[in-house]
Amino acid sequence: MDFFWCRHRFALLFGREGSDNHKMIKRGNPIHIEDHMTKKLHYPDLQVCVLAAGRGKRMRSNLPKVLHKVLGRPMIDYILQTVESLTPKAIAVVTGHASEQVRAHVGQPANLEWVIQDKQLGTGHAVKQCEEVIRDVRDVLIVCGDTPLLRTETLATLVDEHRQRQSDVTVLTAEPANPFGYGRIVRDADGRVTSIVEEKDADEAQRAIHEVSSGIYCVRFEVLFELLHAIGNRNAQGEYYLPDIVPLALTAGQSVEAVLMDDADEMLGVNDRVHLAHVEDVMQRQIIEEWQRRGVTIEKPDTVRIEASVKIGMDTVIQAGCYLLGATQVGDECRIGPNAVLIDAWVDDRVNIFAFSHIHSAAVGADALVGPYARLRPEARLDEQVHIGNFVEVKKAVIGEGSKVNHLSYIGDATIGRDCNVGAGTITCNYDGANKFLTEIGDDVFIGSDTQLVAPVRVGDGATIGAGSTITRDVPADGLTLSERNPQRHVEGWQRPKKDRR
Ligand code: UD1
Ligand code: MG
Repeated sequence: MDFFWCRHRFALLFGREGSDNHKMIKRGNPIHIEDHMTKKLHYPDLQVCVLAAGRGKRMRSNLPKVLHKVLGRPMIDYILQTVESLTPKAIAVVTGHASEQVRAHVGQPANLEWVIQDKQLGTGHAVKQCEEVIRDVRDVLIVCGDTPLLRTETLATLVDEHRQRQSDVTVLTAEPANPFGYGRIVRDADGRVTSIVEEKDADEAQRAIHEVSSGIYCVRFEVLFELLHAIGNRNAQGEYYLPDIVPLALTAGQSVEAVLMDDADEMLGVNDRVHLAHVEDVMQRQIIEEWQRRGVTIEKPDTVRIEASVKIGMDTVIQAGCYLLGATQVGDECRIGPNAVLIDAWVDDRVNIFAFSHIHSAAVGADALVGPYARLRPEARLDEQVHIGNFVEVKKAVIGEGSKVNHLSYIGDATIGRDCNVGAGTITCNYDGANKFLTEIGDDVFIGSDTQLVAPVRVGDGATIGAGSTITRDVPADGLTLSERNPQRHVEGWQRPKKDRR
């Protein structure tokens, strides 16, 4: 029995063995979708500050806002990946509310410093907490932890423009269809930015302004902290607003610039769960369009969920209602769905996963058929050309090349060799209420319908088991094994009761 294929490839998914990356890159998809979205740049004299201390009151959640997930990934991961791709000198992340949870999630990358904001007194106050950790840089780029659609290129444009225009304070602005909730960009008659007014502080005329602040700034390091020390908190929210550095800079004779971004969606900030769903929709559309451009057919794209870290091969068809989640990888020329769920699944080329199948942490070999209505649970590994049919559940089991389990079966804690046929309704009885035991089936075995294999038990190569058998002892190779059957009787003259149909 050769389980090499399964063990080896499955290890790639679950990280148990050495890697085989050239193979993975070839089959899954040449480039990870996230790689495409972020390009590496180089800003060695730039400090980044990520503001992530807010409670996210409007989320109404015990989970800190930046740990809420967008397409399967916490929001903070997106922004950290985006700013890391600038290769800045250092990144300071300001946390406060539930900071331990945020830190535990992010870990400790080398160029990242954690800054605590004990009380969330506003965005200006949050940046001020970074004073101790920032030194010897030209500019400070301030971003919010709640804008997961932001792209590295956009931040690079902001920094480049800021430097080209020799600005002291530069704010990234946008013109979204609905400016509600954002700080408005107030300009004078000459079009120069004079202030940023928050929704809650704005009068009617200011609320009518369509240009808003993205909350993202590039500020010359030399002027930043002097400005931050000067801001007050006399406003509708009693907070120290970062946007207040704009009028303060102008008063001090410094220059303020605004860079307008083309795509207002990119700066969408998540403040509540309505925003979360909206941002997820925008990102989902981007991801689906990217896979379509890479040769994947996606039917009824509005009904499909494909998370950010999924990979899909060329000429694969994803049918309506499918969920491809987590680290799922699907090879070339597969057909998935409709309505199949794949979570951390590894699927090789030319596989058919039929309707309503559920695959979780399992691997499927090339040319296999799965479902409809099949369930592959963690550590199920199907070799090439395996057929798993309707209402079959497979858990922690290896099924060898060409073997078939086509109807209504449970295969758990088992190994099945190649070219076996497992009849309808076969059950591996793997559990005695306290312990799990293994069923080991050789190659070319035929198991009759409605067989119970009471583990631990082995079935030798070439064996045939008669239908309806309860197998409690090892089965030798070849020949026929069957458990004692009750003799069949015939009752002459017996009449089935009939309904009165008059
Ligand atoms: C903020 C801006 C607004 C801008 C919008 C863009 C201010 C006062 N307002 O509003 O001009 O249009 O972003 O999305 O800056 N945070 C802290 N500590 C605090 C308060 C907030 O770290 O004391 C962090 C939050 O975790 C969040 C970010 O700062 O990541 C922005 O705070 P949020 O409350 O979302 O501000 P908005 O109302 O969105
Ligand atoms: Mg916000």
